[in-house]
Amino acid sequence: MSGAVRQGEGTGAARRPRTVRLFEVGPRDGLQNEALLVPLEQKLRFVERLVAAGLTDIEVGAFVHPRWVPQMADADELVRRLPARDGVRYWALVPNERGLDRALAAGAMHLGLLASASETHSRKNINRSIDVVQAENRRVAARALAAGVTLRGYVSVAFGCPYEGDVPLDRVLRLAEEYLELGVAQVALGDTTGMAGPDQIRRAARRALDAFGAERVAFHLHDTRGTGLVHALAALEEGVTTLDASTGGIGGCPYAPGAAGNLATEDLLYLLERLGIGTGIDLDGIVAASQWLCDELGLAIPSRYFRFAMADR
Ligand code: HMG
Ligand code: MG
Repeated sequence: MSGAVRQGEGTGAARRPRTVRLFEVGPRDGLQNEALLVPLEQKLRFVERLVAAGLTDIEVGAFVHPRWVPQMADADELVRRLPARDGVRYWALVPNERGLDRALAAGAMHLGLLASASETHSRKNINRSIDVVQAENRRVAARALAAGVTLRGYVSVAFGCPYEGDVPLDRVLRLAEEYLELGVAQVALGDTTGMAGPDQIRRAARRALDAFGAERVAFHLHDTRGTGLVHALAALEEGVTTLDASTGGIGGCPYAPGAAGNLATEDLLYLLERLGIGTGIDLDGIVAASQWLCDELGLAIPSRYFRFAMADR
């Protein structure tokens, strides 16, 4: 889906892609961190709005333990009732084999695996050490691939851990490599609590793209400290072609203090439009979806573009 790089437009522009695959995580990463337990029917309406806006990769839920993340407890029924649409891939997280059993029973065909780049976040988030999680991921991947499922693998706290501080890039790339050896189609490097800096993003992007190729790498950015767009630009200028975002900028990881605020889909889309990078997604449609989250569910919408669009009406 990603296009050839643009040439000869000066520093930074040279490696920017012509098109970007935007991976929407709002119904999962967004809603998992809202105090409100959104009813299933409303989640389906939210997803329908995202599809109508032209999104083709949407992470809708997580087959995690309902006690750990009650907001995702209805993943089974949700996945069963998603509207089938040509070219639309619905994704969900699986933390272990029990999650995979549930996902396969519900008919999920696109799944995300979890791993953390710090021991403390790993234990807080999945209650296991990194090695034990990766051993479980090996079993999950083998069974999922045999069932025809496409996988992506998250490396959380890849740019800094709220519990441990700095995270070595070599450790992150090793985890990414392990995922790819398992047969994962794409790894998503997560700035779980927005701790990265633009130079760190550039370094990681350069090394990951050199090692694995652009198709196999996504950046999953959180806007916790207001640096999400700067990081997206840094990644784009290194040739990154898949970026994760959450409509309205809702969300975060409940097991990483201060994780609130995924990079907002509409903020990222506006930036991409200004850079002349195509996505196939309708910015007004995403704003309408955020307005619906605000009006129907009463959610606070942190997106700056959304606030501008509302003031302009
Ligand atoms: P645990 O308590 O260690 O589970 O939780 P266990 O293996 O000891 O099992 C205890 C019981 O739970 C058993 O039942 C299991 O069957 C059941 P019992 O025998 O007692 O009746 N169980 C399950 N039930 C339903 N679904 C399951 C499941 N697994 C076990 N999947 C566990 C371990 C992994 C389940 C738990 O820690 C968990 O659910 N963690 C998920 C936390 C989470 O969702 N975090 C947010 C997502 S990560 C994120 O946001 C970051 C990301 O966005 C990227 C970034 O920003 O960097 C992806
Ligand atoms: Mg996240």
